[in-house]
Amino acid sequence: MTQETATIRNNSTGEEAEFSLLKGTVGTPVVDVSNLNKQLGLFTFDPGFMSTASCKSAITYIDGEQGILLYRGYPIDQLAEKCSFLEVAYLLMNGELGNQQEQAEFEHEIGQHAMLHEAMHGFIDGFHYDAHPMAMMVGIVGSLSAFYHSELNMNDPEHRRISAMRMLAKMPVIATACHRHSIGYPFVYPRADLSYCENFLNMMFSLPSQKYIDKDNYIDPIAVNALNLLFILHADHEQNASTSTVRLASSTGANPYACIAAGIGALWGPAHGGANEAVLSMLEEIGSVDRIPEFIAKAKDKNDPFRLMGFGHRVYKNFDPRATIIRKACYEVLESTSAQDPLFDLAIALEKFALEDEYFVEKKLYPNVDFYSGIIYKALNIPVDMFTVMFTIARTAGWVSHWLEMMAEPGQRIGRPRQVYTGKNLRNV
Ligand code: ACO
Repeated sequence: MTQETATIRNNSTGEEAEFSLLKGTVGTPVVDVSNLNKQLGLFTFDPGFMSTASCKSAITYIDGEQGILLYRGYPIDQLAEKCSFLEVAYLLMNGELGNQQEQAEFEHEIGQHAMLHEAMHGFIDGFHYDAHPMAMMVGIVGSLSAFYHSELNMNDPEHRRISAMRMLAKMPVIATACHRHSIGYPFVYPRADLSYCENFLNMMFSLPSQKYIDKDNYIDPIAVNALNLLFILHADHEQNASTSTVRLASSTGANPYACIAAGIGALWGPAHGGANEAVLSMLEEIGSVDRIPEFIAKAKDKNDPFRLMGFGHRVYKNFDPRATIIRKACYEVLESTSAQDPLFDLAIALEKFALEDEYFVEKKLYPNVDFYSGIIYKALNIPVDMFTVMFTIARTAGWVSHWLEMMAEPGQRIGRPRQVYTGKNLRNV
């Protein structure tokens, strides 16, 4: 079969050259312009990566027009219905769902890696009580590189696998330790007899005076199921800003814990993972249904920086399949926890108003996953400043999967974009 190509012509010089079209399993063909400069003496300009693929990947597929999201080929709604978060993490990292024994071994190993070095508690104690937990996450996860550096041989796949397992295992422990530090409570150690989400809830909420888990080991299944669901929906999303940050940092051969810390920094922004916290702040600011038109007008006003948080997505232009699942879960969690949350009613009214507004319809702005996730976290008593931390725990499964994938690729190159220089030309002092 002949290789399909695209021709690029420089109209200034009349020169033209052919470039290969790369085709994935599904999805839009991609023009391979890696030789463009050699062939035509040109670079491409694509700020924000509107049309540029930065790598090949076999982990996650998104069709933004159709609202399709597949992890390793499996639709997100099927995984959300039938799997636990750690089953999905195994799938993302290994390419296939584990059989019973593989999954049991994986979960056992996660349990083994969960403990933090005692000295890390000293690091956490160094933060002021009112430090934002995301600031603490960046620092503490980055500091893991100080604990696991000299022994790490990045050329050894087994060393890489153990690093990935460590990050996945330790993330909820670090997250809950940061939260407890901020409220002045003692840290709770992870327990080998609890699942990933149960452990998170126990480490987060257990008090010396009031255990989260009773003597019969009862733990609220509604909270456990809701966490599993939210973690699955946030586990990966192909080359988003934080995953691309992890890949770019990793392309230099940097320590993996430092690369994940870079990803956490990128996730924190309100245009990305910080949106769930921003949605709650926005709903609280709007306050009541009668003020919705005022805020919709602000979101449409080009002279006002306000945006409707939790609306819009770079890739999804019809609906975010994660938002559809999470909206339903929101009703279920609120009903079963009988947590009457006026903010949820406000969110539903705001969604309805925006979806009927010409501006939002024309620009294809729909609620994204984070329009609802904060409401569920709130119903589970997770503090608002921990919402993006929750996202961090889940997305670690995706980050480490992408890191493992890229590190296993032969012929890795450092990520190094070009620029259009707009400064002064050569001049003398
Ligand atoms: N409210 C009002 N207007 C919006 C919104 C919004 N939430 N989102 C986009 N627009 C408008 C823009 O002003 C722009 O208008 P213009 O064409 O007249 O200039 C147009 O829609 C396209 O927006 P862009 O910013 O170019 O879209 P982009 O793909 O670059 O950004 C993003 C996507 C960052 C998600 C954006 O929609 C946004 O800021 N949303 C709010 C924050 C948010 O919810 N982020 C979470 C994303 S999901 C996640 O990371 C889990």
